[in-house]
Amino acid sequence: MKAVYISNYGGIEELTHGDLPMPEVGDNDVLVRVYAAAVNPVDWKIRKGFLQKRIQFEFPLILGWDVAGVVEETGKKVTRFKKGDQVFSRPDITRNGTYAEYVAVDENLLAHKPSNLSFEEAASVPLAGLTAWGALVEIANLKSGDKVLIHAGAGGVGVYAVQLAKSLGAYVTATVSGKNVDFVRALGADQAINYQEQDFSQVLQGFDVVFDTMGGEIQRKSYDVLKEQGLLVTIVTPPEQELADEKHVRAEYFFLQPDGEKLAKLGQLIEQGTIRPVVGHVFPLQEAAKAHELSESQHARGKIVLQVQ
Ligand SMILES: NC(=O)c1ccc[n+]([C@@H]2O[C@H](COP(=O)([O-])OP(=O)(O)OC[C@H]3O[C@@H](n4cnc5c(N)ncnc54)[C@H](OP(=O)(O)O)[C@@H]3O)[C@@H](O)[C@H]2O)c1
Repeated sequence: MKAVYISNYGGIEELTHGDLPMPEVGDNDVLVRVYAAAVNPVDWKIRKGFLQKRIQFEFPLILGWDVAGVVEETGKKVTRFKKGDQVFSRPDITRNGTYAEYVAVDENLLAHKPSNLSFEEAASVPLAGLTAWGALVEIANLKSGDKVLIHAGAGGVGVYAVQLAKSLGAYVTATVSGKNVDFVRALGADQAINYQEQDFSQVLQGFDVVFDTMGGEIQRKSYDVLKEQGLLVTIVTPPEQELADEKHVRAEYFFLQPDGEKLAKLGQLIEQGTIRPVVGHVFPLQEAAKAHELSESQHARGKIVLQVQ
Protein backbone atom coordinates (compact mmCIF):
# COMPACT_ATOMS: atom_id res chain seq x y z
CA MET A 1 0.00 0.00 0.00
CA LYS A 2 1.04 3.63 -0.47
CA ALA A 3 2.02 5.44 2.72
CA VAL A 4 3.98 8.41 4.01
CA TYR A 5 6.54 7.24 6.55
CA ILE A 6 9.86 8.09 8.19
CA SER A 7 12.91 5.83 8.50
CA ASN A 8 14.73 8.08 10.98
CA TYR A 9 13.92 11.00 13.24
CA GLY A 10 14.52 14.33 11.52
CA GLY A 11 13.21 17.18 9.36
CA ILE A 12 10.50 17.14 6.70
CA GLU A 13 12.98 15.58 4.24
CA GLU A 14 12.47 12.34 6.23
CA LEU A 15 8.84 12.12 5.02
CA THR A 16 8.86 9.48 2.28
CA HIS A 17 5.94 8.60 0.01
CA GLY A 18 6.32 4.98 -1.01
CA ASP A 19 5.11 1.38 -0.72
CA LEU A 20 4.89 -0.48 2.60
CA PRO A 21 3.31 -3.84 3.49
CA MET A 22 -0.39 -3.90 4.46
CA PRO A 23 -1.01 -3.70 8.24
CA GLU A 24 -1.56 -6.92 10.17
CA VAL A 25 -5.13 -7.24 11.40
CA GLY A 26 -5.36 -8.61 14.96
CA ASP A 27 -8.46 -10.32 16.39
CA ASN A 28 -9.76 -7.06 17.88
CA ASP A 29 -8.74 -4.91 14.92
CA VAL A 30 -10.68 -3.28 12.16
CA LEU A 31 -8.84 -2.70 8.89
CA VAL A 32 -9.84 0.77 7.70
CA ARG A 33 -9.44 1.92 4.12
CA VAL A 34 -8.26 5.47 4.77
CA TYR A 35 -10.08 8.27 2.94
CA ALA A 36 -8.65 11.15 4.98
CA ALA A 37 -6.11 11.64 7.78
CA ALA A 38 -5.59 14.77 9.86
CA VAL A 39 -2.22 16.31 10.69
CA ASN A 40 -1.60 17.25 14.34
CA PRO A 41 1.41 18.86 16.04
CA VAL A 42 2.18 15.50 17.67
CA ASP A 43 2.98 14.15 14.17
CA TRP A 44 5.93 16.52 13.62
CA LYS A 45 6.93 16.26 17.30
CA ILE A 46 7.24 12.48 16.82
CA ARG A 47 9.05 12.96 13.49
CA LYS A 48 11.61 15.15 15.25
CA GLY A 49 12.10 12.57 18.00
CA PHE A 50 10.55 14.63 20.81
CA LEU A 51 8.57 11.63 22.14
CA GLN A 52 11.26 8.96 21.80
CA LYS A 53 11.91 8.78 25.56
CA ARG A 54 8.22 8.15 26.20
CA ILE A 55 7.38 5.76 23.32
CA GLN A 56 9.68 3.22 21.61
CA PHE A 57 8.78 3.68 17.94
CA GLU A 58 9.99 1.25 15.27
CA PHE A 59 10.98 2.30 11.75
CA PRO A 60 9.68 2.58 9.13
CA LEU A 61 7.05 4.56 11.05
CA ILE A 62 3.85 5.74 9.40
CA LEU A 63 2.81 9.02 11.04
CA GLY A 64 -0.71 10.35 11.63
CA TRP A 65 -3.19 9.51 14.39
CA ASP A 66 -6.54 10.72 13.05
CA VAL A 67 -8.52 8.88 10.42
CA ALA A 68 -11.82 8.68 8.57
CA GLY A 69 -12.53 5.88 6.14
CA VAL A 70 -14.42 2.70 5.34
CA VAL A 71 -14.16 -0.70 7.00
CA GLU A 72 -12.39 -3.14 4.66
CA GLU A 73 -12.02 -6.16 6.96
CA THR A 74 -12.67 -7.10 10.59
CA GLY A 75 -10.71 -9.26 13.04
CA LYS A 76 -12.28 -12.45 14.48
CA LYS A 77 -13.42 -10.85 17.75
CA VAL A 78 -14.81 -7.60 16.32
CA THR A 79 -18.53 -7.24 17.03
CA ARG A 80 -19.53 -3.62 16.46
CA PHE A 81 -18.29 -2.95 12.91
CA LYS A 82 -18.69 -4.63 9.53
CA LYS A 83 -17.22 -4.27 6.07
CA GLY A 84 -18.47 -1.10 4.37
CA ASP A 85 -19.15 0.91 7.58
CA GLN A 86 -17.99 4.53 7.48
CA VAL A 87 -15.84 5.15 10.56
CA PHE A 88 -13.48 7.60 12.25
CA SER A 89 -10.88 7.23 15.00
CA ARG A 90 -7.88 8.48 16.93
CA PRO A 91 -5.85 5.24 16.75
CA ASP A 92 -3.25 4.03 19.25
CA ILE A 93 -0.20 6.28 19.01
CA THR A 94 2.17 3.38 19.72
CA ARG A 95 1.15 1.66 16.45
CA ASN A 96 1.63 2.71 12.85
CA GLY A 97 -0.43 5.74 11.86
CA THR A 98 -2.90 6.89 9.24
CA TYR A 99 -0.87 8.58 6.47
CA ALA A 100 -1.52 5.43 4.44
CA GLU A 101 -4.11 3.70 2.28
CA TYR A 102 -4.96 1.30 5.14
CA VAL A 103 -4.65 1.29 8.92
CA ALA A 104 -5.54 -1.40 11.51
CA VAL A 105 -7.39 0.07 14.50
CA ASP A 106 -8.60 -1.62 17.70
CA GLU A 107 -12.40 -1.58 17.56
CA ASN A 108 -12.53 0.10 20.99
CA LEU A 109 -10.96 3.20 19.46
CA LEU A 110 -13.35 3.38 16.53
CA ALA A 111 -16.76 5.03 16.07
CA HIS A 112 -19.21 5.39 13.21
CA LYS A 113 -18.60 8.56 11.21
CA PRO A 114 -21.19 11.31 11.75
CA SER A 115 -23.52 11.10 8.74
CA ASN A 116 -23.44 14.86 8.10
CA LEU A 117 -19.64 15.05 7.66
CA SER A 118 -17.37 14.48 4.69
CA PHE A 119 -14.41 12.16 5.25
CA GLU A 120 -12.10 15.20 5.40
CA GLU A 121 -14.24 16.82 8.10
CA ALA A 122 -14.57 13.56 10.05
CA ALA A 123 -10.81 12.96 10.04
CA SER A 124 -10.34 16.37 11.68
CA VAL A 125 -12.43 15.49 14.72
CA PRO A 126 -11.04 12.64 16.88
CA LEU A 127 -7.70 13.81 18.31
CA ALA A 128 -8.51 17.51 18.68
CA GLY A 129 -12.18 17.03 19.57
CA LEU A 130 -11.51 14.39 22.23
CA THR A 131 -8.73 16.55 23.68
CA ALA A 132 -11.01 19.57 24.02
CA TRP A 133 -13.69 17.30 25.57
CA GLY A 134 -11.25 15.69 28.01
CA ALA A 135 -9.75 18.97 29.16
CA LEU A 136 -12.94 21.03 29.48
CA VAL A 137 -15.57 18.45 30.42
CA GLU A 138 -13.68 15.70 32.27
CA ILE A 139 -10.88 17.68 33.93
CA ALA A 140 -12.34 21.19 34.30
CA ASN A 141 -15.99 20.10 34.70
CA LEU A 142 -16.97 23.32 32.95
CA LYS A 143 -20.44 24.55 33.87
CA SER A 144 -22.93 27.11 32.69
CA GLY A 145 -21.83 30.59 33.76
CA ASP A 146 -18.15 29.67 34.21
CA LYS A 147 -15.64 32.05 32.65
CA VAL A 148 -13.10 30.21 30.51
CA LEU A 149 -10.07 31.51 28.65
CA ILE A 150 -9.05 29.37 25.66
CA HIS A 151 -5.61 30.03 24.23
CA ALA A 152 -5.23 29.65 20.45
CA GLY A 153 -8.98 29.60 19.87
CA ALA A 154 -8.40 29.43 16.10
CA GLY A 155 -6.15 26.34 16.27
CA GLY A 156 -6.90 22.67 15.79
CA VAL A 157 -7.92 22.04 19.41
CA GLY A 158 -9.11 25.60 19.99
CA VAL A 159 -11.93 25.50 17.44
CA TYR A 160 -13.49 22.53 19.26
CA ALA A 161 -12.79 23.99 22.70
CA VAL A 162 -14.52 27.29 21.91
CA GLN A 163 -17.63 25.55 20.56
CA LEU A 164 -17.81 22.98 23.38
CA ALA A 165 -17.37 25.61 26.09
CA LYS A 166 -20.06 27.76 24.51
CA SER A 167 -22.43 24.78 24.23
CA LEU A 168 -21.95 24.15 27.97
CA GLY A 169 -23.08 27.72 28.69
CA ALA A 170 -19.69 29.16 29.64
CA TYR A 171 -18.56 32.74 29.01
CA VAL A 172 -15.79 32.15 26.46
CA THR A 173 -12.74 34.31 25.86
CA ALA A 174 -10.18 33.22 23.26
CA THR A 175 -6.74 34.48 22.30
CA VAL A 176 -6.07 34.82 18.56
CA SER A 177 -4.10 36.96 16.13
CA GLY A 178 -5.86 39.90 14.44
CA LYS A 179 -6.84 37.91 11.36
CA ASN A 180 -8.80 35.41 13.49
CA VAL A 181 -10.80 37.79 15.73
CA ASP A 182 -13.99 37.62 13.62
CA PHE A 183 -13.45 33.91 12.94
CA VAL A 184 -13.34 32.91 16.62
CA ARG A 185 -16.32 35.13 17.44
CA ALA A 186 -18.27 33.37 14.68
CA LEU A 187 -17.45 30.07 16.40
CA GLY A 188 -19.14 31.40 19.53
CA ALA A 189 -16.47 33.19 21.57
CA ASP A 190 -17.94 36.05 23.61
CA GLN A 191 -14.62 37.88 23.65
CA ALA A 192 -11.53 37.66 21.44
CA ILE A 193 -8.18 38.98 22.64
CA ASN A 194 -5.82 39.86 19.79
CA TYR A 195 -2.51 38.75 21.28
CA GLN A 196 -0.63 40.92 18.77
CA GLU A 197 -2.11 44.05 20.35
CA GLN A 198 -2.94 43.14 23.94
CA ASP A 199 -1.31 41.16 26.72
CA PHE A 200 -4.19 38.96 27.95
CA SER A 201 -2.77 38.86 31.47
CA GLN A 202 -3.07 42.64 31.74
CA VAL A 203 -6.71 42.84 30.67
CA LEU A 204 -8.37 39.68 32.03
CA GLN A 205 -9.14 38.53 35.56
CA GLY A 206 -11.50 36.38 37.62
CA PHE A 207 -11.53 33.34 35.30
CA ASP A 208 -12.70 29.93 36.53
CA VAL A 209 -10.72 28.00 33.94
CA VAL A 210 -7.83 28.59 31.53
CA PHE A 211 -7.28 26.05 28.77
CA ASP A 212 -3.58 26.26 27.90
CA THR A 213 -2.68 25.07 24.40
CA MET A 214 0.53 27.11 24.18
CA GLY A 215 2.74 26.44 27.24
CA GLY A 216 5.83 28.49 28.23
CA GLU A 217 5.35 32.15 29.12
CA ILE A 218 1.67 32.00 28.16
CA GLN A 219 1.11 29.21 30.69
CA ARG A 220 2.94 31.15 33.42
CA LYS A 221 1.01 34.37 32.77
CA SER A 222 -2.27 32.45 32.73
CA TYR A 223 -2.19 31.91 36.50
CA ASP A 224 -2.71 35.66 36.92
CA VAL A 225 -6.11 35.70 35.22
CA LEU A 226 -7.58 32.92 37.36
CA LYS A 227 -9.71 33.59 40.41
CA GLU A 228 -8.60 31.99 43.68
CA GLN A 229 -8.71 28.17 43.33
CA GLY A 230 -9.44 28.57 39.61
CA LEU A 231 -8.05 25.83 37.35
CA LEU A 232 -5.46 25.85 34.58
CA VAL A 233 -5.67 22.79 32.32
CA THR A 234 -2.70 22.43 30.03
CA ILE A 235 -2.19 20.00 27.15
CA VAL A 236 1.33 21.19 26.35
CA THR A 237 3.76 20.94 29.26
CA PRO A 238 3.16 19.81 32.83
CA PRO A 239 2.47 22.90 34.94
CA GLU A 240 4.81 24.36 37.56
CA GLN A 241 2.94 23.24 40.66
CA GLU A 242 4.90 25.54 42.99
CA LEU A 243 3.95 28.58 40.96
CA ALA A 244 0.31 27.48 40.95
CA ASP A 245 0.41 27.10 44.77
CA GLU A 246 2.00 30.51 45.13
CA LYS A 247 -0.82 32.04 43.06
CA HIS A 248 -3.50 30.07 44.99
CA VAL A 249 -4.78 28.33 41.84
CA ARG A 250 -4.91 24.72 40.65
CA ALA A 251 -3.10 23.35 37.61
CA GLU A 252 -3.41 20.03 35.75
CA TYR A 253 -1.84 18.40 32.72
CA PHE A 254 -4.02 16.37 30.36
CA PHE A 255 -2.82 13.86 27.75
CA LEU A 256 -5.48 12.25 25.61
CA GLN A 257 -6.34 8.56 26.07
CA PRO A 258 -8.59 7.91 23.07
CA ASP A 259 -11.87 6.04 23.41
CA GLY A 260 -14.37 5.01 20.70
CA GLU A 261 -17.43 5.42 22.95
CA LYS A 262 -16.51 9.03 23.80
CA LEU A 263 -15.84 9.66 20.14
CA ALA A 264 -19.33 8.34 19.32
CA LYS A 265 -20.78 10.86 21.83
CA LEU A 266 -18.82 13.66 20.17
CA GLY A 267 -20.19 12.42 16.85
CA GLN A 268 -23.73 12.82 18.22
CA LEU A 269 -23.00 16.45 19.19
CA ILE A 270 -21.81 17.01 15.63
CA GLU A 271 -24.88 15.37 14.11
CA GLN A 272 -27.08 17.55 16.35
CA GLY A 273 -25.23 20.64 15.09
CA THR A 274 -23.87 21.59 18.55
CA ILE A 275 -20.29 21.65 17.24
CA ARG A 276 -18.84 21.52 13.76
CA PRO A 277 -15.39 20.72 12.43
CA VAL A 278 -13.28 23.47 10.88
CA VAL A 279 -11.03 22.15 8.13
CA GLY A 280 -8.78 25.04 7.22
CA HIS A 281 -6.33 23.31 4.88
CA VAL A 282 -6.44 20.17 2.69
CA PHE A 283 -3.42 18.55 1.00
CA PRO A 284 -3.06 15.32 -1.00
CA LEU A 285 -1.19 12.59 0.90
CA GLN A 286 1.90 13.07 -1.28
CA GLU A 287 2.18 16.65 0.03
CA ALA A 288 2.43 15.65 3.68
CA ALA A 289 5.67 17.66 3.93
CA LYS A 290 3.82 20.89 3.05
CA ALA A 291 1.19 20.02 5.64
CA HIS A 292 3.91 19.51 8.26
CA GLU A 293 5.52 22.85 7.39
CA LEU A 294 2.17 24.56 7.92
CA SER A 295 1.53 22.74 11.20
CA GLU A 296 5.00 23.62 12.48
CA SER A 297 4.37 27.30 11.69
CA GLN A 298 1.76 27.17 14.50
CA HIS A 299 -0.49 29.47 12.48
CA ALA A 300 -2.81 27.07 10.70
CA ARG A 301 -6.52 27.92 11.07
CA GLY A 302 -8.60 24.98 12.31
CA LYS A 303 -7.44 21.57 11.16
CA ILE A 304 -5.05 20.38 8.45
CA VAL A 305 -6.23 17.30 6.54
CA LEU A 306 -4.57 14.90 4.09
CA GLN A 307 -6.73 13.39 1.35
CA VAL A 308 -5.77 9.76 0.89
CA GLN A 309 -8.39 8.22 -1.46
N1 LIG B 1 -1.86 16.59 25.56
C1 LIG B 1 -2.61 16.21 24.53
O1 LIG B 1 -3.28 15.18 24.59
C2 LIG B 1 -2.65 17.08 23.29
C3 LIG B 1 -3.65 16.85 22.32
C4 LIG B 1 -3.72 17.70 21.23
C5 LIG B 1 -2.79 18.74 21.10
N2 LIG B 1 -1.82 18.90 22.02
C6 LIG B 1 -0.84 20.00 21.91
O2 LIG B 1 -1.56 21.23 22.02
C7 LIG B 1 -0.94 22.24 21.23
C8 LIG B 1 -1.98 22.87 20.33
O3 LIG B 1 -2.43 21.91 19.38
P1 LIG B 1 -3.29 22.37 18.12
O4 LIG B 1 -3.56 21.18 17.30
O5 LIG B 1 -4.42 23.24 18.54
O6 LIG B 1 -2.19 23.30 17.39
P2 LIG B 1 -2.31 24.18 16.10
O7 LIG B 1 -3.58 23.88 15.36
O8 LIG B 1 -1.05 24.05 15.34
O9 LIG B 1 -2.38 25.68 16.67
C9 LIG B 1 -2.27 26.69 15.75
C10 LIG B 1 -2.96 27.94 16.31
O10 LIG B 1 -2.17 28.53 17.34
C11 LIG B 1 -2.46 29.91 17.33
N3 LIG B 1 -1.41 30.67 17.99
C12 LIG B 1 -0.09 30.73 17.66
N4 LIG B 1 0.56 31.53 18.54
C13 LIG B 1 -0.38 31.99 19.41
C14 LIG B 1 -0.36 32.86 20.56
N5 LIG B 1 0.80 33.42 20.96
N6 LIG B 1 -1.50 33.08 21.24
C15 LIG B 1 -2.67 32.53 20.84
N7 LIG B 1 -2.77 31.71 19.76
C16 LIG B 1 -1.64 31.45 19.07
C17 LIG B 1 -2.59 30.23 15.86
O11 LIG B 1 -3.48 31.30 15.71
P3 LIG B 1 -3.01 32.62 14.93
O12 LIG B 1 -2.68 32.16 13.51
O13 LIG B 1 -4.22 33.48 15.06
O14 LIG B 1 -1.79 33.11 15.62
C18 LIG B 1 -3.16 28.95 15.24
O15 LIG B 1 -4.54 29.08 14.97
C19 LIG B 1 0.21 21.53 20.50
O16 LIG B 1 1.40 21.76 21.22
C20 LIG B 1 -0.16 20.06 20.55
O17 LIG B 1 0.94 19.18 20.47
C21 LIG B 1 -1.73 18.08 23.12
